[in-house]
Amino acid sequence: MNADFSNSYYIRLIIDNIREEIKGFKTFSFAEGHNLEYQAGQFITLVDNSGSREIRRSYSIISSPVLNEPLSIAVKRIDNGVFSRKLIDRVRIGDSLLTTGAAGFFRLPDNIKFFTSIFFFAAGSGIAPILSLIKTVLLLYPDISVYLIYSNRSRETTAFYHELQRLKLCHPDQLHIDYLFSSESDLRKARLNRDLLLEFLKIKHFNREKTLFYTCGPESYMRMIIFHLVEEGFSIHQIKKEDFNPGNKKLTGRLPPDKNSYHVELDLKGSMFSFPVKYPESILQAAKKIKLNLPYSCETGKCGSCAAICLIGKVWLSNNEVLTDKDLALGLTLTCTGHPQNGDVKLKIE
Ligand code: FES
Repeated sequence: MNADFSNSYYIRLIIDNIREEIKGFKTFSFAEGHNLEYQAGQFITLVDNSGSREIRRSYSIISSPVLNEPLSIAVKRIDNGVFSRKLIDRVRIGDSLLTTGAAGFFRLPDNIKFFTSIFFFAAGSGIAPILSLIKTVLLLYPDISVYLIYSNRSRETTAFYHELQRLKLCHPDQLHIDYLFSSESDLRKARLNRDLLLEFLKIKHFNREKTLFYTCGPESYMRMIIFHLVEEGFSIHQIKKEDFNPGNKKLTGRLPPDKNSYHVELDLKGSMFSFPVKYPESILQAAKKIKLNLPYSCETGKCGSCAAICLIGKVWLSNNEVLTDKDLALGLTLTCTGHPQNGDVKLKIE
C-alpha cells in the first residue's frame, strides 16, 4: 500500500494502531503529524496506486474532530473487495496510506442548535460514521437528545458495543440506545420495521420539527426508514442517509437535455485548468483524460467526494444521491456525474 509520495496532491497517513472490533471489521488509527481536517460523519478516500490502475475507496471516520483522539477509520472486509482485503489482511502498524482527504455530506447541519433531538438508525458497519456524529453531539450539544437504534445479527457481532455502552454510562440522560438483534427469538424486535420505528418515535417532549434523522446501512434498510418517516409526515430535509457502495457502479440511463461539447474552466485549489468535455464523458472523466487529479471515490453520484462549486454556467447531473436541493441551490455540483449544459462552465474545488 506504500505509494508515490512525490505527488503532493495526496496526504500521507501513518498507521499507529489497528484493532479488530469484530471478525472482519477493523479500526485503523493514524499518527499525528498529518494535516487532514474533517467533520464528524465524513469519510476519507484512500488511494492505492501501486498497481497499473489507481484504486480509490472511501472509509468512514469513527473518531470525533472535537475530542482529543487520533484520526481513525473503520474498514469492513469485503470478500471480493481488493482494497479492503489488503487493509484487513496485510497492512501493519507503521505502514503508510495515501488519502485524498476527507469528504461527505453526512454531517451535522450548520443550524444544529435549532434541533432538540436526533435519531440515528444504523445497521452493521453503518455504525461507523454515526459513532463519530454521536460522540461529537454528546460533547458539543448537551441539550440535544440522542437516540440510537442499532441493528445487528447478535450482540457478539455488534461493533463498538463496549464503547457505546461506555458513552451511555457517561451520558445517561442524553444518550438512549436500542439494540436490535436479528437472532432474537421475539421476531417483533428482531428487525426494524414500520411498527417498531413508530414505537421508537413515541418519546416524551418530542418536537417533530426540531428532530433530525440519520441512517446508514444497506440500501433496502435505509429506503424502508426514509419511506416510513416521510409517510409519517417528516420532511425529507430532516433525514440524512450515508449511501455509497464502491462495488455498485450502476448509473441511471437518463440522458442530458444537451449533448454538445463544452469547455470547463476549473479552479483546483488555486490552480487554473481548462479542458473540453464531450458527452457521454463526465467532467471527471474528461479531467482524468488530461491526467488531472481531482477528488473522487464512488464515481456514481453517491458519496459527494467529487463535489465542486459551479461559479458560472450550468451542470446537469445524470445521478445525484448526495446533494440536497439546498446544496444545489448554493451552487454545489458533482464532477463524476456532471455534464456541462447550454454552454461553458466554471467550477471551483477547494
Ligand atoms: S465520486 Fe462519489 S459522488 Fe462523485
